[in-house]
Amino acid sequence: MADFPDIPRHIAVIMDGNGRWAKERGLPRREGHRAGAESVREVTDACIDLGVDYLTLYAFSSENWNRPQAEVRALMELLDRFLLEKATDLKKQNIRLKTIGQIERLPAKTRNLLERLIEQTKDHTALTLVLALSYGAREEIVAAARWLAADAAAGTIKPEQIDCTSFAQRLQTAGIPDPDLLVRTSGEMRVSNFLLWQISYSEIVIVRKYWPDFRRQDLLDAVAEYQRRHRRFGAL
Ligand code: IPE
Ligand code: IPE
Ligand code: MG
Repeated sequence: MADFPDIPRHIAVIMDGNGRWAKERGLPRREGHRAGAESVREVTDACIDLGVDYLTLYAFSSENWNRPQAEVRALMELLDRFLLEKATDLKKQNIRLKTIGQIERLPAKTRNLLERLIEQTKDHTALTLVLALSYGAREEIVAAARWLAADAAAGTIKPEQIDCTSFAQRLQTAGIPDPDLLVRTSGEMRVSNFLLWQISYSEIVIVRKYWPDFRRQDLLDAVAEYQRRHRRFGAL
């Protein structure tokens, strides 16, 4: 399938609806988050088969810290478990792991696991899996602005040299192409502080299913929808 025409180079996913999936089944929210890990596996595998280069998954937002402490703790535990279980697959499947977000806010154990896996997988080439953790696009943009202001104050950049390129180089996604396709599950039509700069021209596909029900075929359907779109980038 790798020679399929017009495969998005970068797919970004807002994995939403875990809580509602669990609620419908009379289960605690945690079970929804746990079930969502299987969807991550399916989507990652499908991206490798399709020949997608970058997959960015919105796993935890800056605002998600405002959830009850028990849910935050459960999410961090599940993330640790996911990383431990995924370690072998990352090697076997030649996946490079990256993160965006305020990683310093994560528990030390999670941070250490991430740092180790990022280092171990840095030369892998099949797919770059970017986990957005404690991520907020506004915070990312403010940090880039602060960095530019400091450079300007230090005299290493002139205000008139600040342009889209120098700005994007100071975002955490520097070096990563903008997403071609943005998928959000659970039917919500909002971006919730995700990649605000980078999705300027992304094609958006909203899927009604909750994230734990999202399967390989749903990703293939989203890609097929993307392929039916006519991207114009403001031109004709
Ligand atoms: C997405 O599912 C996972 C995270 C935001 C961590 P939710 O937890 O937002 O589930 P809903 O949207 O409340 O159903
Ligand atoms: C966005 O989902 C964040 C993640 C999927 C990690 P939320 O459930 O937090 O967003 P809102 O509250 O519906 O906007
Ligand atoms: Mg949600």
